[in-house]
Amino acid sequence: MGVREVRPGIFWVGVNDRTTDLFEGVWPLPHGVSYNAYLVVGDKTALIDGVKAPFSDELLRNIAQVLPPEELDYIVVNHMEPDHSGSLPLLRRVAPDATVLATAAALPMLVRFYGISEGVVAVSDGESLDLGGKVLRFYHIPFVHWPETMATYEATEKVLFPCDAFGGFRALDGVLFDDEVDVAEYEDEILRYFSNIVGMHSKPVLRAIEKLQGLEIAVIAPSHGLVWRRDPGHIVELYARWARMEAAPGVTVIFGSMYGFTARAAEEVARGAAEAGAPVRVLDAGRTHVSVLIREAWKRRGLVLGAPTYDAEIFPPVEHLLRLLERKRLRGRVAGLFGAYGWRGGSVDKMRERVEALGWEVVDAVAFHGMPTSDDLARARALGEAVARRVVGGTPGQGL
Ligand code: FEO
Repeated sequence: MGVREVRPGIFWVGVNDRTTDLFEGVWPLPHGVSYNAYLVVGDKTALIDGVKAPFSDELLRNIAQVLPPEELDYIVVNHMEPDHSGSLPLLRRVAPDATVLATAAALPMLVRFYGISEGVVAVSDGESLDLGGKVLRFYHIPFVHWPETMATYEATEKVLFPCDAFGGFRALDGVLFDDEVDVAEYEDEILRYFSNIVGMHSKPVLRAIEKLQGLEIAVIAPSHGLVWRRDPGHIVELYARWARMEAAPGVTVIFGSMYGFTARAAEEVARGAAEAGAPVRVLDAGRTHVSVLIREAWKRRGLVLGAPTYDAEIFPPVEHLLRLLERKRLRGRVAGLFGAYGWRGGSVDKMRERVEALGWEVVDAVAFHGMPTSDDLARARALGEAVARRVVGGTPGQGL
């Protein structure tokens, strides 16, 4: 996409990745992702973050449009995950005199990932670096996303480089800034990124927001996705809301079904919720990637899970979702549960144990033997209705 000027003397030199199928080897990228890197040019120069290793040449070509890469003075490593640090070995060879700046916690990773131990300086929390005409300040924000993470702030242009924080999936389609797009079109992929990648670190996200809120910020320039210059407060507000586990007053129905018994009940749950006035989304766990299920669970306060009993346990796609929601530590949901069994039940009781351990409120649970009877279907409809009534017009979300 070439180089873009973010502010005078500050340039986006990142890349779009439209070829990686799975982010972190797990999460699909149907719309790609960007690795944003930035050049800050004062009397001295600094590269903020890098890119995934296969894109290193493209990064170098972009840097070369602004300055000879071998003349770089500093390489700021906000975060060591290789989607940003993978270009370090090539940068080191091209610019051997550039000083690498990172937190102390990143130093062992630099050695173990890339064998880099020389020319590295650990920066302390709040430390400043005067580049001459530009001033960098470093703020440690551990666990957003890894323990070694920091954000860098350029004080003269008031640009915050928070790396993973405030980022999102989706490559940049010829644009860079929030004022060049309909932001609403990007928000689903931003939330899928947040809930799948950063969500389990929601408390550190809130701590980071609190720590950085005193800064005067004109631009938020994360290392994935849009750069926020029209309304930086919008992405901060989205992240804060998601990290507080606040959610819309709607109902997500996620079900798995082997032979259609549980699926039939799912339709009644949805009907009941809709009749009670809730926006409803229904997803088949067996046919929807779990990253989307996690995002949709994050989005609405009501969450009704349907799973037949399988191997005397919860139907595997729904159990997999539950396991990941436990790992992501999703809180504050109003739950309903339902499911069929063939000869012996268990799924609904086991789901109840799991979601109660998450602290969710369980409104009701409906188990039925085989094809749901008209009475079972009425109970399923009442379940959807009860969850919807609990979330529509209620207090959004709960604290962590
Ligand atoms: Fe974008 Fe945690 O790396």
